[in-house]
Amino acid sequence: MHLTQLDAAPLALVMVGLPARGKTYLARKIQRYLSWLGYRTHGFNVGDYRRRRLGAKQPHDFFDPDNPAGAALRREVAMEALQAMLDWFEEGGNVGIYDATNSTHARRQAVYERCHTAGVRVIFIESICDRTVVEQNVRETKLRSPDYADFEPERAVEDFRKRIAHYERSYETLADPEKSYVKIIDVGRQVVINRIEGYLPARLISFLMNVHNTRRPIWLTRHGEAEFNVRGTIGGDSPLSPAGEQYAHSLAQFLSERIADGEEVTVWTSALRRTIQTAEQLPTETSAWRALNEIDAGICDGMTYDQIKTRHPVEFAARQNDKFRYRYPQGESYADVIQRVEPIIVELERQRRPVMLIVHQAVARVLYGYLMGLPQEECPHIAIPLHTVVQLTPNAYGYEEQLFPLEPDLGAARSSSSS
Ligand code: F6P
Repeated sequence: MHLTQLDAAPLALVMVGLPARGKTYLARKIQRYLSWLGYRTHGFNVGDYRRRRLGAKQPHDFFDPDNPAGAALRREVAMEALQAMLDWFEEGGNVGIYDATNSTHARRQAVYERCHTAGVRVIFIESICDRTVVEQNVRETKLRSPDYADFEPERAVEDFRKRIAHYERSYETLADPEKSYVKIIDVGRQVVINRIEGYLPARLISFLMNVHNTRRPIWLTRHGEAEFNVRGTIGGDSPLSPAGEQYAHSLAQFLSERIADGEEVTVWTSALRRTIQTAEQLPTETSAWRALNEIDAGICDGMTYDQIKTRHPVEFAARQNDKFRYRYPQGESYADVIQRVEPIIVELERQRRPVMLIVHQAVARVLYGYLMGLPQEECPHIAIPLHTVVQLTPNAYGYEEQLFPLEPDLGAARSSSSS
């Protein structure tokens, strides 16, 4: 992506926080979000550099601030990772996420100065959380870390708590009024913002204010088969076919089997008939969003792909050539759809209940691309067949995927209209 003038300088997001405060969770969320929006974004995790250089399994006293040999080595790997990020900016990177504890003022000042000298803007992002979140993080992520590969769980927890205690002794929270920073307290319960300005930072903050760690499934599906699908024509606002109606019924059954009595679910559709009708039999309220409407095919709306090829061969070839960036005359590209859908992503992150999204082929692809952290340009080629629910269940850093093809089965030929 070509950044606007306002965003011209590369940006380093420097994570700050004691171990097990969800820094890597946040770093990965930010990376997925900004990459999906088209920024060249990359994470630099200092723990990975340490393991690569020194091997895993350093005992807790390696992290003791009074252990001079350990402290020197930790500083060395931190600077190695920082240099890698600065080199990457030289190659055209837009947003680097520097993922480490950066727990003292002195360390942050060193990072800041090296970035500043290289012409890189810096925003510090600090995560502060209470004991329950820390315990959950330790058990869910740290026990699986290569640092504790051969440890009994209880011994690993004990060692990790000691590691945290070492950092606690020298930890200094962000307090420099001259620096740009965001403090996220108790996963968004309170957010403190200092000296944040510009388009991208503001967009990022609004995203961060909505991120939480409550685990809930997301069900993503296209609408049931519509009359236009039967005819092979794109776009339009046609109603469901009889098979599509039957899918609406199967979908209601699917959802009822997965939610407890009285459990609240958020269901969103587009503002087009085929998604609204697909939601009609669900045992829950639904909201219709125009932002979830199908890609606008402009002058090609209502045609089959063969008709487009015959009547607009140049357009057809241009789309084949670069399906992600190609914009239908008077319509949209996939890149446009991403920008249109972005507010929904922020709203989706905010939801703490299970969510069902009933959308269209192109929109399902970009939503799936975001949730699974796929490169933007792959989105137009993701296969999401009709009459199939994609269930995404959160795990430590992302989602596990399961597909549920429901009745009626349309078979491959009719379920996906193009690649
Ligand atoms: O054919 C169904 C449909 O939802 C069309 O309305 C839309 O133009 C198309 O899929 C998007 O898929 P593709 O980008 O592969 O043409």
